[in-house]
Amino acid sequence: MNMGSLRREPVWWRDETIYQIYPRSYQDCDADGVGDLPGILARLPYIAELGVDCFWLSPIFASPMDDFGYDVADYRSIDPLFGTMDDFDALLNAAHSHGLKLVLDFVPNHTSDRHEWFRESRGSRTNAKRNWYIWKDPAPDGGPPNNWISNFGGSAWEFDERTGQYYYHAFLASQPDLNWRNPEVRSAMFDVLRFWLDKGVDGFRVDVIWHLIKDAEFRDNPPNPEYRPGQPEIEKNLQVHSADQPEIHDLVAQMRDVIEEYDNRLMIGEIYLPLERMVRYYGESGESGVHLPFNFQLLQCQWEPKKIAGLVKEYEAALPEGGWPNWVLSNHDQPRIAARAGARQAGIAAMLLLTLRGTPTLYYGDEIGLAEVDIPPDRIQDPWARQEPDASFNRDKARTPMQWSSKENAGFSGTQPWLPLSQDWRERNVAQLDEQPGSLLRLYKRLLAFRKNEPALRDGAYREIHVGETMFAYERVLDKERLLVLLNFSDDPVAAPPLPDSYRGGTVVFSSEEVDNPPEQDAAAITLRPGAGVIVRGGENRS
Ligand code: GLC
Repeated sequence: MNMGSLRREPVWWRDETIYQIYPRSYQDCDADGVGDLPGILARLPYIAELGVDCFWLSPIFASPMDDFGYDVADYRSIDPLFGTMDDFDALLNAAHSHGLKLVLDFVPNHTSDRHEWFRESRGSRTNAKRNWYIWKDPAPDGGPPNNWISNFGGSAWEFDERTGQYYYHAFLASQPDLNWRNPEVRSAMFDVLRFWLDKGVDGFRVDVIWHLIKDAEFRDNPPNPEYRPGQPEIEKNLQVHSADQPEIHDLVAQMRDVIEEYDNRLMIGEIYLPLERMVRYYGESGESGVHLPFNFQLLQCQWEPKKIAGLVKEYEAALPEGGWPNWVLSNHDQPRIAARAGARQAGIAAMLLLTLRGTPTLYYGDEIGLAEVDIPPDRIQDPWARQEPDASFNRDKARTPMQWSSKENAGFSGTQPWLPLSQDWRERNVAQLDEQPGSLLRLYKRLLAFRKNEPALRDGAYREIHVGETMFAYERVLDKERLLVLLNFSDDPVAAPPLPDSYRGGTVVFSSEEVDNPPEQDAAAITLRPGAGVIVRGGENRS
């Protein structure tokens, strides 16, 4: 348990804010309807001005794009759709000149079936790379070796006529899983990390890290008694043997050792697991695991103060000694926050993300309140949605182009974008919202700037103060600094709850509502408007 603020050496990723960019959808510079690296380069001033410190890019490596880059055909080259290696080097340099860090997406669980390694591996049963992937004989009836299901639906085994065996793929059949029990695979993939670390990237987000090691005996997964029709097919079984195996932690420790060969680099793990299993990925004393196992709880929680306060409490209590917290509001695989919580709550969602204890990750487009964009059936791109059309969510809805201006195609591209814009793009875009007092974008900028100047928000201990049906209040305390965050989750005005003594006479130092020359407000007398939030300074430096 780790509720306090530990005295610690400064490490950049504890203080800074991470911004996820989905490169296909950020800025298109060569008018093919798909974003690219020169586009991101052109938008660096915006990213810096927004006030985030680090951005991570979903995969930009050579790929047939069956899963939009999460199917890598060459880990050491840039896909021509996104640009060239020179474009990448220019982006990395320019990011650093802007004071921004750049984190890449490392996709170690599987390659594309077009990767040279897999081409060799499938060549013959005796090929030197055969054991780099997971090949098994058919079951006695000729069917797949076990009952494992692909995350995108259907059997996770594909029969290969030429050699008469099945290979395993946790995702698409064109994404064969690497065999991470093979030391040659480890060594080759660790060299991939070094290739990018030598270039100076600031770290990696590691894709589906909990999947890397599978049961040594490939036993069947047990059925999920709670499965209901309509849920994704993968949920029919419990993933007891296909992921999160005990041996994974040694492998993560080895990967961390590679990262530690370099100074100041960050390793994030994508992990969808119940809390107590997820936090194991911090490793021993936070030394042998990933620095940040992504905390996706806000992605899956109902938007109610009691639920959210409850999960913050559980998360804080579950953190191991040395484990630094983090929070994620949206990503490219889940419905966006403005879709889940509603447009009127997007402001306090921003406040929550940027005032809870831990490193925040903000998803591009959330800062302009993008919600769920309608995708006409003939424009669906997401391979999962195509394979399981009845599943409730199509990931395209959270991957639509960034909206920059009211100009053609929202300033994203000179041609029709690969996914549609939101209906309201003429108003909902960076240029418009930047000019609009009280806009969500301006709130994000003010908040990010405020957070930078408040050590208590970055480093202070977290303490819950009040949780009701409509209001959630908590404080962040560092030495004599105290900040109280009050969030109104309802569509009605709500009076502040009775404040602790330490805030008596305290004043509002931040409000989600933007007012020129705000009057000095006594915290005890505040009424919060619907969906509004404030921060009150207490302690010895009240005003
Ligand atoms: C991760 C990615 C997702 C991708 C999958 C397979 O979950 O976030 O977009 O489809 O891995 O690589």
